[in-house]
Amino acid sequence: MSAEPAAKIILSLERLKQIRCIDVENSSVVVEAGCVLATLQNEVAAKGLLFPVSLGAEGSCQIGGNISTNAGGINVLRYGMMREQVLGLEVVLADGRLWQNLKALRKDNRGIDLNQLFIGAEGVLGVVTAASLRLWPKPFRVATALLALESVADAVRIYQLARQQCGDVMTAFELMPHLALVLAQEALPDLAFPFGSAHKNYVLLEFSGAELLDVEQMLSVFMERIFERGLIVDAVVAQSTSQADALWKFREGMNEGQARRGVHLRSDVSVPISGLAEFVQQAEVALQARFPASEILSYGHIGDGNVHINVLPPAEASHEQRLAQIISGTDIINTIVHKYSGSISAEHGIGRLKRHAFEEQIDPLHNEMLLCIKRGFDSQNLLNPGCLINMVDCTSP
Ligand code: LAC
Ligand code: ZN
Repeated sequence: MSAEPAAKIILSLERLKQIRCIDVENSSVVVEAGCVLATLQNEVAAKGLLFPVSLGAEGSCQIGGNISTNAGGINVLRYGMMREQVLGLEVVLADGRLWQNLKALRKDNRGIDLNQLFIGAEGVLGVVTAASLRLWPKPFRVATALLALESVADAVRIYQLARQQCGDVMTAFELMPHLALVLAQEALPDLAFPFGSAHKNYVLLEFSGAELLDVEQMLSVFMERIFERGLIVDAVVAQSTSQADALWKFREGMNEGQARRGVHLRSDVSVPISGLAEFVQQAEVALQARFPASEILSYGHIGDGNVHINVLPPAEASHEQRLAQIISGTDIINTIVHKYSGSISAEHGIGRLKRHAFEEQIDPLHNEMLLCIKRGFDSQNLLNPGCLINMVDCTSP
């Protein structure tokens, strides 16, 4: 195949930005791959519906990319990842044919679900051009609190109690150490620190639900209970939407704050939540011992067992020192992840950067099955070569 068809796909993706149809009664939408995530969220919100995938890049990332990377974000614990939202897909295959499967069914058990093959496939099996996605009722009431606590272990205990006692009303549970709030303030200097003094860790907790669910009351009773058990030392509850937005700014701004510290080690790992607190402690101790002058930052979606353990080197570290730290620090993290039967990519995918680490960890049979699928869809390795699957060293049938 010449380069021309690929170029045509890229050009037409630039134009594939439309929301083709919102079916309010069926709670579903058909949207083209180039539509920006925030545009989709806003359009369906105007009709009283929710598209729940939400992440820092939502103002610029596009639905096609969200599907191809199986995007996660802050609402996964209640609504699932992108995979859970997809009802049907439209995909251009490697030979240029268009597979149209934009069905909008909640139940369809006609054997193997081919949609699933393209979700999280990082574009190596086909190019997603449109999707039929599931929508949810837009929460009518939202209650938000920032809890101050001592340890990651206490955060996990609070999460388990919230699951048992409040169930599905919990829509976000985001862990941040104190450094995260400092970084957010570096990026957003007007952001007022919400506590009288610093604490080791914080959890941004959000409950939301339909009109007849008093989520504010549930949050207040729940907070009393965890305070009585000694699991939190302080807390602030947002009294208005703008106060809730200000609390979320700490979570959003911390990423910009990290970016301002220059090139640094970033990770995206998951372990079973039962081992999460111990895992984080071991990883932090190992990283701090190896890099005593650096700051370690463990934060994220711990309700999903997903934590980002990042390492911020001192300002004066050279580019070479930073790269060396990324390589050796990632090895340290990945070794401990393996010990805890975790994943080296919880939500960011494999791409090119993690491909070798991925190949090293997966079982040969798993790799063989992946290659078999890749060969079936794209035997000439035209689609996103070098990403996710290594066809070059494995050309034998
Ligand atoms: C976050 C990105 C790094 O959770 O996934 O902020
Ligand atoms: Zn994340």
